[in-house]
Parts: sequence; C-alpha cells; structure tokens
Amino acid sequence: MKKILIIGATSAIAQEVAKIYAHEKAELVLWGRNTQMLDIIAQDLKVHGAAQVTNISHDLNDLDAHEKTVAQVWNQLQKVDVILLAHGVLGNQLEAENDLDELLQIITSNYISHVSLLTFLAQKMREQKSGTLAVISSVAGDRGKQSNYVYGSAKAGKTVFVDGLRNRLFTAGVHVINFKLGFVDTPMTKDFKKGPLWAKPNLVAQGIVKGIEAKKDTVYLPFFWRFIMLIIKSIPESIFKKLKM
Ligand SMILES: NC(=O)c1ccc[n+]([C@@H]2O[C@H](COP(=O)([O-])OP(=O)(O)OC[C@H]3O[C@@H](n4cnc5c(N)ncnc54)[C@H](OP(=O)(O)O)[C@@H]3O)[C@@H](O)[C@H]2O)c1
Repeated sequence: MKKILIIGATSAIAQEVAKIYAHEKAELVLWGRNTQMLDIIAQDLKVHGAAQVTNISHDLNDLDAHEKTVAQVWNQLQKVDVILLAHGVLGNQLEAENDLDELLQIITSNYISHVSLLTFLAQKMREQKSGTLAVISSVAGDRGKQSNYVYGSAKAGKTVFVDGLRNRLFTAGVHVINFKLGFVDTPMTKDFKKGPLWAKPNLVAQGIVKGIEAKKDTVYLPFFWRFIMLIIKSIPESIFKKLKM
C-alpha cells in the first residue's frame, strides 16, 4: 500500500491528485490549514477507496511547526512513498510593488515555506533511502514578467532549490520532481478569463501522477507549455521589456 503525504491538500489540483491515489487504495496524510475543508476532502477520499486518511491542520507559513509536524508524519507512516507540495498563493502583484506585507506573503507562501518543508522532508527521505518528492511550480518562474514577477521569482527560486535537491538526493535513492504548470482552472485563477490554453485540474493531476511514476525530473503541464516557454524565453530582453507582459 502506497503512503502519500499531500501538503497544501485543499488545493484544487492536490485534491484531484489525492483522488487518484485514493482509487489505488493508498494511505494518505493531508496537510493544510482549512480544517473543515480537510475533513470534507478526507471523507470524499475514503469514498473513493483510500485505505486511511489523516488530516493535519496548520498554516504552512508557520515555519516553526515544520520540523515537529514532519516528525509526526513519520511517526505515523514510518515510511512515505510520495510527497506532493501544492500550496501557494497568486497574490496581488500591484499591491506587492508597494506593500512589504503582500510581497512577503507571496514569497513566504510560494518559496520560503516550501524550502523550509523540503529541508526537513529531505532529511527523512534520505534516511529511508527511497520515495519521491514532488513540487508544484509554475511556468511563471521561467521568465520575469512585469505582470507577475513577485510570484514568478518565488517559483523560479523554488525551481533552482528543487533542481539542486534532486542532484543531492539522487545517490540516496530519492527522486525529486518539479512540475511547471501553465494556466489551470482552479480557485486561484477564478477571476481570469479562460481560453484554449487553460487546463482542468483533473487532467493536470493525471500528468502529475504519471510524472511521479515515470520518475521524471521536470515536467511541463500541459506538455505544450514547454514549447510556449521556449519561445517566450527566446525573445530578446530588448524586445520583451516593451511587450507589457
Ligand atoms: N491554477 C494555476 O493556473 C496555476 C498555474 C501554475 C502553478 N500553480 C500552482 O499550483 C499550486 C496549486 O494551486 P491551485 O491552482 O490548485 O489553486 P488553489 O486551489 O487556490 O490552491 C492553493 C492552495 O494553497 C493553500 N495555501 C496557500 N497558502 C497556504 C498556507 N499558508 N497554509 C496552508 N495552505 C495554504 C490554499 O489553502 P486555503 O484554501 O486554506 O487558502 C489552497 O488550498 C500552487 O502552488 C500554484 O501556485 C497554479
């Protein structure tokens, strides 16, 4: 039986990933901050076939709780096969340009909390010499744009951290995957006008589980974002800065 830890478990994408593992009769630990929503998700996962579901309710930006909570998860599961880090906030770019609180909220939610968690999780995975650490990032981290460079910089920092961690844990038998997502129709993007480039969370979740099984390193989801970002990255900065993107 697979043992799965989902961090940021109330995310629409994370919920779809959890459902796939529930169908496989996995044991799941869900970590989020919305106790009521975690309870509803846990009930639903049991209906979908999960062997057992346990909830941990903590704000993930409470960094002081990370080490203790990670130890608590290992006390319960003994060994973890897959960990998914899914939490994040889009934040308000315009506000963050003038308001330090908003800036730090975006950076802490999308970067600092992730690297803190990954540090404690990596210690445990290294000791057990197996398992997969999967992190959700964004194509926004591939190039700084004026419309969302605060969020993008947090995702970019996470990508570099995760790449380095993958290299470090390789010899220990631990796999580390970075998922770079394009536009996904979730509560995070509820105010955006949707178009042909938008994906549904269940399709993205299937890609995440497939990527984990195939032990990929970096996965763009949907796949076509790899090519879109190749084009975007190839635009010279002298032109890019005039595009108002
Ligand atoms: N949707 C997209 O187009 C898109 C594109 C690229 C990357 N991503 C990334 O995909 C991941 C999942 O996002 P989503 O699209 O599934 O959006 P979502 O449904 O809004 O999920 C984001 C989740 O993060 C949780 N969260 C944020 N800060 C937290 C904190 N301090 N403590 C605990 N939980 C916290 C939220 O919990 P609450 O419900 O308690 O607020 C929410 O459940 C995020 O990392 C996002 O940046 C999304």
